[in-house]
Amino acid sequence: MIMTKWPHKDLLDTDHLTLAEVTYLLNMAREFQEINTRPVKKVPTLRGKGVVLFFAEDSTRTKTSFDVAGKRLSADTFSLGKSGSSIAKGESLKDTALTLQAMSPDIIVIRHSSSGAARFLAERLACSVVNAGDGWHAHPTQALLDAYTLREYWQGKMAGKTLLIVGDITHSRVARSNIHLLNLLGISVRVFGPKTLLPRDIDAWPVSVYANLSEAVAGVDAVMCLRLQLERQQAGLLPDLSEYAAQFCLTRDHLAKAAPGAPLLHPGPINRGLEIASDLADAPESRILDQVAAGVALRMAVLFTLGMRNEYASEEPHVSPS
Ligand code: CP
Repeated sequence: MIMTKWPHKDLLDTDHLTLAEVTYLLNMAREFQEINTRPVKKVPTLRGKGVVLFFAEDSTRTKTSFDVAGKRLSADTFSLGKSGSSIAKGESLKDTALTLQAMSPDIIVIRHSSSGAARFLAERLACSVVNAGDGWHAHPTQALLDAYTLREYWQGKMAGKTLLIVGDITHSRVARSNIHLLNLLGISVRVFGPKTLLPRDIDAWPVSVYANLSEAVAGVDAVMCLRLQLERQQAGLLPDLSEYAAQFCLTRDHLAKAAPGAPLLHPGPINRGLEIASDLADAPESRILDQVAAGVALRMAVLFTLGMRNEYASEEPHVSPS
């Protein structure tokens, strides 16, 4: 796996990555996935590096997997949240970031409810910044782990496939980062959701918009169901939730209209019975837990690449335990 010096200090979204860079990260994640199956799941590659997990918004999957990823690479990981920190006393994002920087971390992983928060930090800090989800804007490591999951499922054959994204597109940073990346990988993207939860400029996006779920799902090679983001809804965007479920909840009958064997993805957390039928979430077609497992390996690849970007200019990644 040869790569000249990694050119990016930060990972803020998928739209600044080339196909070669994405392929590099996915290939490296594959090597780290193998380490995750060993009895001793730890390598010394980031020993002495510090990774701050600055999560000013709730998370289970992303925060835990970055923490596990850092620890499996022997980095020192430190957690900071909104509650229990001086953010709760009114300290600004800039002052919080400068305070963290003064402790000399190598990487800050940030989740924040404001779109642009990760870029704000990246422009002010010398260390690498990884966007773990900022407002509606971007969630690049989710998109990369989704691509990893699909690539494994399809045994590397990505180009020419079609994927349907169903649900709340407007509020979804996962959809935005995925659409950039899926297009880069040669995958056509369809979207379907309530009109009130489609962005106003959706016609300018590189997707095909469908008005009917049965038509949208017909023949697709994969389906990605999005969480209905109840915490981001503004009054009046939705009918009541039971009406939403009746019209937009993805079921096994819907998935049966996709291509045979089409996998079902969901970034989580899932609202069972609201955007996804409970039996579909647990069905053999569901890759939801594969996505979670891929998240650890993919985030190991990201932390490794940024943490070692100055040390390993053009060598093979050093991933074997010693
Ligand atoms: N998919 C995702 O970002 O999940 P968490 O909010 O649990 O991190």
